[in-house]
Amino acid sequence: MYIRKDGYYRLAKQRGYRSRASFKLIQLNHSYGIIHKNDNALDIGASPGGWMQVTIDIIGRRGTAVGIDVLEIPAINAANAVTIKGDINDPAVRQKAVHAIGRRFDVVLSDLSLNLTGDASSDAVRHLSMAGSILSFLPELLKEGGNFLIKLFYSNESKMFLKQAGRYFETVYTTKPKASRSSSSELYMAGKGFIANGVKKP
Ligand SMILES: C[S@@+](CC[C@H](N)C(=O)[O-])C[C@H]1O[C@@H](n2cnc3c(N)ncnc32)[C@H](O)[C@@H]1O
Repeated sequence: MYIRKDGYYRLAKQRGYRSRASFKLIQLNHSYGIIHKNDNALDIGASPGGWMQVTIDIIGRRGTAVGIDVLEIPAINAANAVTIKGDINDPAVRQKAVHAIGRRFDVVLSDLSLNLTGDASSDAVRHLSMAGSILSFLPELLKEGGNFLIKLFYSNESKMFLKQAGRYFETVYTTKPKASRSSSSELYMAGKGFIANGVKKP
């Protein structure tokens, strides 16, 4: 089957990024300032490592980027990159990630995608249920005041997720970066200023 290679695909090759998804993170971070220099960042669903490459460029040598994926994440040539093969639903895998830096993360990213069945509405619902699980893991992964970025797929139910997630952040943004294919219903939610107990200060 012939797959048309788009501009971001070619640009990723030119710049040495492992996936065109790298440009989504570059654009999202440029707009919303989610990751900062010296941050410790957790990347959920990180393989093949395009977001990790971008994250390492932003955090510099003093921060650490930890990536988790059920698939192997090909080794990243940076002393401050840690890769973990495992399922984010597994408490031991989450513990290993926190253990790698000895505290909760400054920023948690999730570009996680499930294997698609082809039924768009059931795929969206399955993805949202996974997103709900990731949200419930944040108190053990993300420091108070930290930032969060997650991929969602647009559906009526995604609005409910955004409402629920909104309680746990000072500010929430939803957006579709330019590098996201227009044919895809994906969107990203950025939450800034994590509030673990969900109670905003008056
Ligand atoms: C779109 S890819 C991520 C691409 C990545 N952001 C990059 O730039 O290279 C989504 C990833 O989510 C992973 N994934 C799916 N379910 C997962 C789970 N339960 N735990 C960890 N990773 C998972 C998949 O294996 C896949 O590699």
